[in-house]
Amino acid sequence: MANNVHFSPVLPLICFFLLAPSPLPCNAQTLKTCGLNSIYQLGDSVSDTGNLIQEHPESAFAKLPYGETFFKNATGRCSNGLLMIDYFAISAGIPFVDAFLNSNASLYSQGHGVNFAVAGSTALPSYILADKKISSPVTNSSLSTQLDWMFTYFNGICYDYDDCAQKLKSSLFIVGEIGENDYRYALLQGKTIEEVKTLVPEVVQAIKDAVTRVIDFGAVRVVVPGNFPVGCFPIYLTQFRTNDSAAYDQFHCLKGLNNLSFHHNELLQQAIQELKNEHPNVAIIYVCENPDKRISWDGVHLTQKANKYMAMWLIHDIFPKLRC
Ligand SMILES: *[C@@H]1O[C@H](CO)[C@@H](O)[C@H](O)[C@H]1NC(C)=O
Ligand SMILES: *[C@@H]1O[C@H](CO)[C@@H](O)[C@H](O)[C@H]1NC(C)=O
Ligand SMILES: *[C@@H]1O[C@H](CO)[C@@H](O)[C@H](O)[C@H]1NC(C)=O
Ligand SMILES: *[C@@H]1O[C@H](CO)[C@@H](O)[C@H](O)[C@H]1NC(C)=O
Ligand SMILES: *[C@@H]1O[C@H](CO)[C@@H](O)[C@H](O)[C@H]1NC(C)=O
Repeated sequence: MANNVHFSPVLPLICFFLLAPSPLPCNAQTLKTCGLNSIYQLGDSVSDTGNLIQEHPESAFAKLPYGETFFKNATGRCSNGLLMIDYFAISAGIPFVDAFLNSNASLYSQGHGVNFAVAGSTALPSYILADKKISSPVTNSSLSTQLDWMFTYFNGICYDYDDCAQKLKSSLFIVGEIGENDYRYALLQGKTIEEVKTLVPEVVQAIKDAVTRVIDFGAVRVVVPGNFPVGCFPIYLTQFRTNDSAAYDQFHCLKGLNNLSFHHNELLQQAIQELKNEHPNVAIIYVCENPDKRISWDGVHLTQKANKYMAMWLIHDIFPKLRC
């Protein structure tokens, strides 16, 4: 398990934060000045704070060394410590956002948001993937299941749409990142990159539908992150290792895989533009793709340190667009 922090020249933004005096003190409660009082998160392992380990207590994420740095215990976060959503909560001045499936969490009384993200989840429902001969080996709690949980939750705290809209006007919704697992499972199960590319429009449509659904619940601030350039991930570099040097770019990342991520992000940005046109009163923000993923905790997931710099940078980037 690679737990060393590895910096590479592909990290201009990260290095900027490490080397230059940061424009954002790390504990800055930037989002607090926006008056955000709650965060609702959908997504996968990038954001899960404990849902998967409720579904599958035997999961590796339920055990140390996951969690060793911050909590000194495994919480279900796929990192040694905090995730980006935790830094968003810190910045908003609210407590960490509990996982929906964490039965001990008094979600209904706390009111500072809910985390519906499940590690290993896909944007497309498992039965749709199954039709394409792709299995979802970790969880069936895909984006549509997470939206159903969200519906249940809002049904419990709101009387009607107007009441929900009132309650959610100071909430931040984060839809993703999600979709990377759809592509990853397909590739690991033998599909070619060209075959996987044909999945992209459907995955992006699922994300677009999810954004529409949260807006229908009453959301007025929605962040939709792009996918990571997975061709730089250790696990992909190992799994798809090749002797063909032309397959690698100048940073020793796999070009074809990064191309897939870029293609996803391109279509996602088009979808977001359409959503913006349809919902001019909602702040919908595309968060640009992660500059790098080589600050890896276990080959797939980021270290706490990487999550922190990434979150600080993202907050700095999205803040002016939140219409505070
Ligand atoms: C660590 O987490 C496990 C399972 O979530 C729990 O049983 C244990 O009591 C926790 N240990 C500490 C020191 O919090
Ligand atoms: C459940 O939450 C309560 C209140 O936050 C806490 O005191 C208690 O220790 C928790 N129980 C478990 C088993 O984690
Ligand atoms: C997903 O659902 C199918 C069909 O109900 C089931 O066979 C499978 O075990 C589930 N997968 C996971 C990872 O829970
Ligand atoms: C790369 O080349 C070496 C030596 O020819 C060979 O042993 C190895 O299996 C090749 N690896 C791959 C992934 O093709
Ligand atoms: C990247 O994708 C574009 C079009 O989607 C294609 O023309 C190009 O050949 C691809 N590059 C690689 C390295 O796969």
